[in-house]
This record gives sequence, structure tokens and C-alpha cells, in this order.
Amino acid sequence: MTNWTHIPILATEIADLILTRADGVYVDGTLGLGGHTKLFLSRLGPTARVFGFDKDEEALAIAKERVADARLTAVHASYTQVPEVLQKYGVTSADGALFDLGLSSYQLDNAARGFSLLRDGPLDMRFDLSATLTAEQIVNEWGLTDLEHILVDYGEERNAHAIAMAIMAARRTGRIDTTFKLKNIVENTVRGRGKIHPATQTFQALRITVNDELSSVEKVTGLLDKILNPGGRAAILTFHSLEDRLVKTRLKELVSSGGWKLVNKHVIVPSYEEVKQNSRARSAKLRVVEKL
Ligand SMILES: C[S@@+](CC[C@H](N)C(=O)[O-])C[C@H]1O[C@@H](n2cnc3c(N)ncnc32)[C@H](O)[C@@H]1O
Repeated sequence: MTNWTHIPILATEIADLILTRADGVYVDGTLGLGGHTKLFLSRLGPTARVFGFDKDEEALAIAKERVADARLTAVHASYTQVPEVLQKYGVTSADGALFDLGLSSYQLDNAARGFSLLRDGPLDMRFDLSATLTAEQIVNEWGLTDLEHILVDYGEERNAHAIAMAIMAARRTGRIDTTFKLKNIVENTVRGRGKIHPATQTFQALRITVNDELSSVEKVTGLLDKILNPGGRAAILTFHSLEDRLVKTRLKELVSSGGWKLVNKHVIVPSYEEVKQNSRARSAKLRVVEKL
């Protein structure tokens, strides 16, 4: 197995904030390569349990091997299914939960998964390889209006119309089936902002659409009410403004509905040192909420 890495972000801070009981039950809604869970288990007692969810079976296999701990139950399912899955295992509630949203370095760095602007690969972008919709289908089969719509809504792309038109034109000469083909089309159409590559927002829009990411994020606060014990805490890590605005709004609503408090008044961001060591931490924002 290739030695894939993903450095867990704000790991110590999250462990300090959500591990309130050494013998508790915890949910890692986005297990990834198991970085956060490994740290959690190193701090928890022998009867603690962690239920780790991921849509990505490849990541789950790596995480199981990495974490190698009988206290971890790795589940191939969306975190939106946490309540039903816990019930299946006879667990009624949890003491803490983590949702480290988006994609892992494993997925980004693996050209075969088709997420990266830097590596040529098939235009795939599925977290769950058993799902049917791929970025390739969207780019080659969706109409102009729908393409423009996702570029605006999920990419916040100012040049959505021009990019959608360029994709439609390029399609006439053959299928756009690789990351580099798409990257080149966007590069030849618009200029990037500052250091940001011009196709960054297009890739983000496709990834969010393929994995229906924002509708899952929408469901997080509803899930928390079902799964957390009083005193239980949930940490949510976001990586772009769309995700973060959504989480901030939903948490605000949860708190004003009563029975919840925000653990940190201000959003927590990685330190300068952490960003220096791991550039992927630079856009991370952490919010933690507690059930009273
Ligand atoms: C940022 S990574 C998590 C990294 C992990 N915390 C670690 O330290 O290795 C996000 C992971 O969440 C998974 N994911 C995204 N949306 C999901 C969902 N709705 N349900 C379950 N897993 C999801 C992705 O497949 C990816 O592996």
C-alpha cells in the first residue's frame, strides 16, 4: 500500500475540547485516514469506543490499518446515517463527535481519484466509488444553465458563464475526461485571482456537486440533537466559505433554539506554526458546540 498521508488539522485542540469522558462513545463522522481518531484513542480508556464513518472505502481500509485498534468501528456510510448506524450497534447516544469536512490529502494527492489540479487523472471526484455521478458526467452531459448554476452556487465563480460556455464548446471536439483537459479549458478562458489557480473554483463546484456535500452539511446540526448525550460536544471543521457560512448559521439557530451552547465564542483557526507545517490547514475553521 502506498504510504499516503493526511495530517490531522487542529487535532490536539479538538481532542482537548470534545473528549469529555475517557470511557465514552465518540463519533468520527469523517474518518479519512484516521488521524484524529488515532489521537482520540490514545487519550481514551480501554472501554471507550469510536465509530468512524466515511463514504470512501479506500480511505476506510487505510484508516483501519493505521489505527489498528479494536475500539474503532469503521463504517462505510455517510455521516448523515450516524443515528441509524449507532442504533444498529445498540448504541443510543455519544459523548462527542467530529465532522472534518471536505476531502483528505489522500483523495487530493491520488491522481486516480480526479480531484487535483496538479495531477492528471480521470475526471472522477467521487468520495464514494460506488456512487454513480462523476465530475466527467456533469462536465460532458449537463446543459449550459446547470453548469453555470453549479459554478455560481458551489464555486462562487465570477466567470461562471464564460467557463460554462467554454466547456460546451470544448465538448464538441471530444469528451472532457481528464482533470488536465478541464484545467486547460478553464485556464484558456479566465485568469486566476492572485495565487489562486483559475480552475480552483470550478474544481470545488464539481466536487461539491458530485458528493452532494452541502446537503450533508445541512443535516449535521439535526444529527447532533439525535446522537449527543447532555454534556456531549461536537467539533466541526470547515475549509471554505460556503461550508463555513452554512455551519455558522445552523449552529446559531441550534443555540437560539435552546439547550445548546457554543464552547468557543470565536471561531478557532490553526496557529501560524501549524499552517507553516501543513499548508492545507490555512483555510480551516473550527466551531465546537455543547448539548446542555
Ligand atoms: C478532511 S478528511 C478527514 C480526515 C481525517 N480527520 C483524518 O485525520 O485523517 C474528510 C473525509 O470525509 C469523508 N466524507 C466527506 N463527506 C462525507 C460524508 N457525508 N459522510 C462520510 N464521510 C464523508 C471524505 O471521504 C474524507 O475521507
